[in-house]
Amino acid sequence: MSFTLTTPLYYVNDKPHLGSTYTTIACDALSRFYRRQSQEVIFITGVDEHGQKIERTAQSNNLLPQDHCDQIAQQYKNLWTSQQITFDRFIRTSSNSHKSLVHEFFKRVEASGDIRLGRQKGWYCVGCEEYKDIEPNDKNNEPECPIHLRKLEWRDEENLFFCLSNYQEKIEELVKKDSFIMPESRRNEVRSFVSSGLRDFSISRIDVNWGINVPGYPGHTFYVWFDALLGYLSGCLLPSKSKSLSSLSKNGWPASVHVIGKDILRFHAVYWPAMLMSANLALPEKVFGHGFLTREGKKMGKSLGNVLDPKSLIDSYGMDSVRWFLLRNIEFGKDGDFQNKRFIDTVNSDLANTIGNLLNRSTSMSRKWFENKTSKPDKLRNNIYMKSCCEEAIENYIKSFVKLDFKKAASEIITIASLANLYLNEQEPWKKIKNEDERQTVENILYDVLETCRIIGFLIEPLTPDLSIRILSQLSIDPSIQNWADNLKWGQLEESKPLPEPKPVMERIEIQEEL
Ligand code: MSP
Repeated sequence: MSFTLTTPLYYVNDKPHLGSTYTTIACDALSRFYRRQSQEVIFITGVDEHGQKIERTAQSNNLLPQDHCDQIAQQYKNLWTSQQITFDRFIRTSSNSHKSLVHEFFKRVEASGDIRLGRQKGWYCVGCEEYKDIEPNDKNNEPECPIHLRKLEWRDEENLFFCLSNYQEKIEELVKKDSFIMPESRRNEVRSFVSSGLRDFSISRIDVNWGINVPGYPGHTFYVWFDALLGYLSGCLLPSKSKSLSSLSKNGWPASVHVIGKDILRFHAVYWPAMLMSANLALPEKVFGHGFLTREGKKMGKSLGNVLDPKSLIDSYGMDSVRWFLLRNIEFGKDGDFQNKRFIDTVNSDLANTIGNLLNRSTSMSRKWFENKTSKPDKLRNNIYMKSCCEEAIENYIKSFVKLDFKKAASEIITIASLANLYLNEQEPWKKIKNEDERQTVENILYDVLETCRIIGFLIEPLTPDLSIRILSQLSIDPSIQNWADNLKWGQLEESKPLPEPKPVMERIEIQEEL
């Protein structure tokens, strides 16, 4: 069985922002983690191209919607490729194969008796592509969207509705399962939304041309969210010859996890499973709603002029620094703040000092005392201190990754690096080496610390892939080794193996005012 995971399909109204980069980096770390565990992974990402928001953006740029989408979709692809994001599928919802899949899906849902015509009245936010829960008789108040801080638009039109209310009990059952919505802190908001009573939602528009036509209903196009969620299914079928829904189970569906931001949890944990139930398709196993990033304590927004461009951040500080900060510093389910100073301090302290110095000092000592090679440990030793530290950390790290607790996984790596630094300070091999009787003890100490560095080099790969390569190369280890099953076992470092000249694996970074 494959581990299938998805990022949201990003709107192409603008270039990639830090929010989309955050989710994509997290999914990349998770994909790398499962691949190292020898599991087949299908990592799906892509873009959500239809709807009024995109139509209007294209218009304002004097472009045809398709040309506009082609440009931004390419920017997303380029950014992910340049950041070594190991996605397996990139789905575009404007593709022809997606359109036929949406038609097939609609016919299934219609055959289940879950489609009806109705009138939709309410306040609509084009930015969110969503009706807001505001009383329709507030019509003269001209309310604003709390997210986009722009005036909502009043709509009163004939739409097709999906009969969500038919799924009240089934969805209640589903969201009751603790394993379905993660983290725990997000479950209650969804549970209370569901228990307040599910209302049918409109799935078509009559005034939006840039969308997929609804078969049998001339003039209607699908509501962008209806079409976008189905992009996950199209993503599974991308390499398959058959683009039919009946082939999904052979092509990685259901998803093991949908990773999304907390603002789109309702779509994924309520509307989407009901749509799948109606179409007789399997449900995703889990939906993880991560928190929102702010910058220096403030919401990021174009109007505030404080949007952090992921590309310039990565160009200035490197991919490893950005990945490490986002995954190590911010609890994945909670909101997090991007602060310049904290960013620099975290990277310098964890990567340059704790890990970088450990590797540098241990390889230098080994080279100096053991003919530029790794030392030869006594093989009959018992109770090796660093071995038990590493084993405990590896166990915790794996448990944390499975829970998408990247912060805890990263902290396990720092724990063993700090313990190894302390161990060196306490053991003082530089004093012991002066005494010939203690030579074997020094060989053991250095072997144990270098072995810890080797384990760190492997464990850090999903989080900071380039840094992992640099660490392993300093230990003369082939970084292309994929499988962890044997490599995370203690004692795999070859003894008397030539070591290259030590080079810092992570340069300290300095604050740059302009990001
Ligand atoms: N197109 C829809 C998703 C459809 S999925 C079938 C969409 N796209 S989006 O581009 O607007 O948002 C993509 C993701 O970015 C969402 O998960 C959203 O939560 C996330 N973020 C947007 N701003 C963010 C932050 N400031 N911080 C973290 N993530 C945020 O929604």
